[in-house]
Amino acid sequence: MFLPDLLKGKRILITGGGTGLGKSMGKRFVELGAELVICGRRQQVLEETAWELMAGAPGPVSWQVCDIRDAAAVEAMIDRIWAARPLDALVNNAAGNFIARSETLSPRAVDAVLGIVLHGSAYCTLACGRRWLAEGRKANVLSIVTTYAWTGSAYVVPSAMAKAGVLALTRSLAVEWGPRGIRLNAIAPGPFPTQGAWERLVPRADLAKEFESRNVLGRVGDHRELADLATFLVSDRSGYITGEVVTIDGGEWLKGAGQFNFLDRLTDDEWEAMRPKKG
Ligand code: HXC
Ligand code: NAP
Repeated sequence: MFLPDLLKGKRILITGGGTGLGKSMGKRFVELGAELVICGRRQQVLEETAWELMAGAPGPVSWQVCDIRDAAAVEAMIDRIWAARPLDALVNNAAGNFIARSETLSPRAVDAVLGIVLHGSAYCTLACGRRWLAEGRKANVLSIVTTYAWTGSAYVVPSAMAKAGVLALTRSLAVEWGPRGIRLNAIAPGPFPTQGAWERLVPRADLAKEFESRNVLGRVGDHRELADLATFLVSDRSGYITGEVVTIDGGEWLKGAGQFNFLDRLTDDEWEAMRPKKG
């Protein structure tokens, strides 16, 4: 299904598209014909990524410096983007996160994460949605959440709260806007190594190994695997999917959830000894 012109004619904004998973999704979208806009707070990062994705030649990638916590700045950015040409899809990818014992969190620390993830995603979604509805344009929103949006997680509580909210936004608007041609879906990734996540969330080398391998498949995700899933979900090929969250985590959260999953530690001899004896 990943034909070279799969996303031809589609104009897509990826928030936080200058780094990490946002950059990897952007690279794949451009390969498949999309016109890409990336945004973030750091101009130099955006500029370097845009040139890298265009392989050093002018092309279909542009950037907007924007702090998505600021609703007025988001409106102004979306106005500038629309002035050139309307978007066909929005990827809510920008995030902020860190680990902390929750009792030590200051109000500003809570706000820092909720502001980026929950409010920023809402501002971007509403700014685009309003325009799409007014124009009667078919479009879609893809939000990058996490599996702890529904399981919750210790030590990343503001992020868990915010991602749960983004999932609620996805499901709510899928129903409200679906009849008017707008689909909203989400992806819940497991561990995909990025500098932004690893330097904030993985405090020790021995814990990194555990974080990277304690899933059914025993490995981290490859950025290309996530980029291909995102491509499918923003493309017209997923036209009958809305309000859905697709997990791509090597079975990580299910492995943590099943009551008897810990029995993977039993030896072959122990399993054999438990089998009923014949005769
Ligand atoms: C406790 C912390 C803290 C920490 C910051 N704060 N880091 N508190 N522990 N480690 C507090 C500060 O003390 C301050 O509160 C408040 O948070 C705001 O901090 P600033 O540094 O002023 O904020 P800002 O410059 O806006 O930066 C926001 C940020 C930062 C979220 C703190 O990390 C950031 O810019 N992140 C963007 C990229 C990112 O996080 N990428 C990772 C996404 S990975 P006080 O009260 O002291 O003023 C991800 C993966 C999920 O989401 C799932 C993985 C499997
Ligand atoms: P990352 O590289 O740190 O990406 C975060 C991006 O968000 C950065 O480009 C950052 O750019 C941008 N950003 C942060 N605050 C912003 C703001 N206020 N306004 C605009 N842009 C802002 O981390 P990542 O690992 O690729 O994460 C990408 C997404 O995947 C996030 O939603 C994350 O929660 C999700 N995720 C990642 C993993 C993983 O294993 N990596 C797992 C589950 C979910 P600036 O700093 O320049 O603004």
